[in-house]
Amino acid sequence: MNKATPKRQAAPRPSTLADRYAAIRQQSLDLAAPLSAEDCQVQSMADASPTKWHLAHITWFFETFLLERFEPAFRPFEPSFRVLFNSYYKGIGAQYPRPQRGLITRPTLADVKRFRADVDERMQALIAARPGDAEVEALVSLGLQHEQQHQELMLTDIKHAFSFNPAAPAYARRWPISRVQPEPMRWFAHAGGLVEIGHDPVLDGDFCFDNETPRHRAFVEPFEIASRPVTYGEYLAFMDDAGYARPELWLSMGWDWVQSGARTAPLYWTRDGDRWLNHTLQGTVEIDPHTPVCHLSYFEADAFARWAGARLPTELEWEHAARALRAPASGGNFADRGAFHPMPQTKTIGDEPVQMFGDVWEWTASAYLPYPRFRPLPGLVGEYNGKFMCNQFVLRGGSCATPRGHVRASYRNFFPPDAQWQFSGLRLARDL
Ligand SMILES: [Fe+2]
Repeated sequence: MNKATPKRQAAPRPSTLADRYAAIRQQSLDLAAPLSAEDCQVQSMADASPTKWHLAHITWFFETFLLERFEPAFRPFEPSFRVLFNSYYKGIGAQYPRPQRGLITRPTLADVKRFRADVDERMQALIAARPGDAEVEALVSLGLQHEQQHQELMLTDIKHAFSFNPAAPAYARRWPISRVQPEPMRWFAHAGGLVEIGHDPVLDGDFCFDNETPRHRAFVEPFEIASRPVTYGEYLAFMDDAGYARPELWLSMGWDWVQSGARTAPLYWTRDGDRWLNHTLQGTVEIDPHTPVCHLSYFEADAFARWAGARLPTELEWEHAARALRAPASGGNFADRGAFHPMPQTKTIGDEPVQMFGDVWEWTASAYLPYPRFRPLPGLVGEYNGKFMCNQFVLRGGSCATPRGHVRASYRNFFPPDAQWQFSGLRLARDL
């Protein structure tokens, strides 16, 4: 065997819509490749879905929202899939119950792959038949961004499923974990004032979800924000200071959550003698104090911030800071450089290291609400985002599992405050 390692070249970015479609669809199959059919079947909790379901659902999206509408003489690949793989679109019709997705043993994984291949062939024919059709292009782009969201969910969900296996299986031995700069956390001050928030095609690229619009003005008080996310080492200091036993640090609902679950550590931490172990996509590893702490609920992030004499940033502050720092919105780690090759997430502004994107989704203090004058997308895809604007908090920045190129400064992720299984951490902010 030749021991010389050839230099890995970044794959060229696909330029046409057909190329982008093929590349992103293939990436989903690549993500499932390390998994067995049994792995792809399992559902570990109601919030998580089987890999097989994800692969079918993201295909259902293209069949339902594009082929059914634009394909002459449309016939579904299999009529029952309309219900089985409909996630939450009431306008489309009935949905199979989410908590029971792991019970769908038929179609098999091989059947789902045949479904994907059939839809891909028909989608490429549709794209070729309607060049320059703005409506088709917009829906294909939405479907591809939707697929990328599910690619991250495939990873978070299989990680959760593997956490129940005493053999501690690894999804990939070389899953990248980015470290923070070794220097102490730095603080960046912002004068605040009237700022513009929301998607800007010049700054953020052409695509955005409807919840990032419309761009609008908002008033921000003077604040300062940390140069990087909070690390495992810093979170361990909170735990060692009895962080989980001090009700004064917690929101009322958060303290109830700690008590009801008898919680003493974040999700995936296990005690081994005098050290903590952590379940990761690499398998079980020791806690690394220099990597961003991950899998925190909003309650844990908020309690840590209070303990640290700080607070969570609002999403307005976060976005304003990300734009002001001109941090690179390159997204997560796994695409373009081969599936599992880490890329540096830090950019230096002057001599100030900044780490804003692609480590962990960062909880903000902001409830997930519509922007002023928000309108959902027209048509049946209008159910995509707007109807979830209740009882959830906004997260910003993307994670190590977010596909590269998927995240931007205006991107608004959202989850309920007790959710832990996403790659979620925090960044500190303070009033000035
Ligand atoms: Fe979906």
